[in-house]
Amino acid sequence: MSDRYQGFVSTSIGQLVVKNLGLPNPTALERWSGGATLVDGLVVLGGQGRLTEVLPTTLDGLGIASATELADGARAKALVFDATGITDTTGLLALQEFFTPLMRRLESCPRVVVIGTPPELASGSERVAQRALEGFTRSLGKEIGRGGTVQLVYVAPAADGATSSTLAFLLSPKSAYVSGQVVRIGAHGATAATGNQVDDWTQPLAGKVALVTGASRGIGEEIARVLRRDGATVVGVDVPQAASELQTLMSELDGDHLVLDITAKDAPQRIAHHLREHHGGVDVVVHNAGITRDKKLANMAEDRWSSVVAVNLTAPELITRELLDTGVLNDDGRIIGVASIAGIAGNVGQTNYATSKAGVIGLVESLRDELDRGITVNAVAPGFIITQMTAAVPFATREVGQRLNAMSQGGLPVDVAETIAWFASTASGAVNGNVVRVCGQMMLGA
Ligand SMILES: NC(=O)c1ccc[n+]([C@@H]2O[C@H](COP(=O)([O-])OP(=O)(O)OC[C@H]3O[C@@H](n4cnc5c(N)ncnc54)[C@H](O)[C@@H]3O)[C@@H](O)[C@H]2O)c1
Repeated sequence: MSDRYQGFVSTSIGQLVVKNLGLPNPTALERWSGGATLVDGLVVLGGQGRLTEVLPTTLDGLGIASATELADGARAKALVFDATGITDTTGLLALQEFFTPLMRRLESCPRVVVIGTPPELASGSERVAQRALEGFTRSLGKEIGRGGTVQLVYVAPAADGATSSTLAFLLSPKSAYVSGQVVRIGAHGATAATGNQVDDWTQPLAGKVALVTGASRGIGEEIARVLRRDGATVVGVDVPQAASELQTLMSELDGDHLVLDITAKDAPQRIAHHLREHHGGVDVVVHNAGITRDKKLANMAEDRWSSVVAVNLTAPELITRELLDTGVLNDDGRIIGVASIAGIAGNVGQTNYATSKAGVIGLVESLRDELDRGITVNAVAPGFIITQMTAAVPFATREVGQRLNAMSQGGLPVDVAETIAWFASTASGAVNGNVVRVCGQMMLGA
């Protein structure tokens, strides 16, 4: 399951070959380890707008050092630009004025975050200018290199004080494989009257119960590990064939397990009953279980279609409905779907899978405006993540799949798990209705 090309590139002979043939040269991405500071270096702040005054305090609360200038000879680990004050297109020049002199003064794996006003909440020239920010961040994501990431965060005015969990994620190595994304805070009703702070940033899920489906291996296993690291009690679900791995993992994580097929007719009721009886409810629900049954549509048997849609889409929908209807999902609950780039860009041989994964995005869109009690819904859309699922992809396709992104490499399960942990955080009460790609800014469907 390793990336053999990246292993080769990291050798001295590999570097020679890469240089001479102009081949992709993936940077080893920095990833966060428990207890480390969120940002190992200085964040330089620029721009002028609604958040300019509050940003230094927000970052300080996260233990992140920031300044508005960079001393001679110094380098920045991250740049945060408040673009909410840009009200017409001539004002966009401020981007070039701030960023150009700093682009050669960044440390490796740098982070860039531009903050704007959701265009749909602005009008006239301001709306045009705010929408234009997206072209800037997406392009800079493709040219920044050296393992850097660039994001646009649209903050609704009512959510100006609710950016902590998002900045903690996007400025830290937790977002190693997330780039070129547009995140909305407070744009879909949720403004986090309560849920935007936590007592302890190392344990943002302390006292919370998290359900993770498909938890015995791959991305699900890593989600369970990261949510546990963040303080949650994890209830893992998986099929009977995976019972022993599930049991071993859950006892290692001091969690609980439930062996069932999520497509069984009574699965939603059994899950709700178990969570109510054994845990008094649930706070975080991660619909991770998923399968592929690839075939071109011309050769698609009915069961390949039905099984994929049943596991990936219908089960998450019915389980969510049951947990909401019975009130087993607690106030300030978090519903998190796992979509896929295939559900955004489409993929040959995956009409069934892409339908199910686009449906997961539909689930986010249908729920985001109707949820109450502080409950949020978001989804991740992974690109090429190195797991047993992708190990089954033929070698040549796998090699190409791993290089077709701004980072020239596949992601790791932990990259998806960290993104989910950000959505799950108690402080992410205003982060609602987002579908964030964890794809190293893959070229497909971008
Ligand atoms: N690996 C990737 O590159 C990638 C890319 C995009 C999306 N995803 C999505 O991420 C999720 C996890 O993928 P993975 O690569 O870890 O896959 P995986 O096959 O390694 O793990 C999937 C898990 O789901 C469980 N599962 C399957 N059907 C189930 C059912 N009916 N009831 C309960 N559990 C069931 C499996 O037993 C397994 O433990 C899936 O939803 C997948 O579609 C993965």
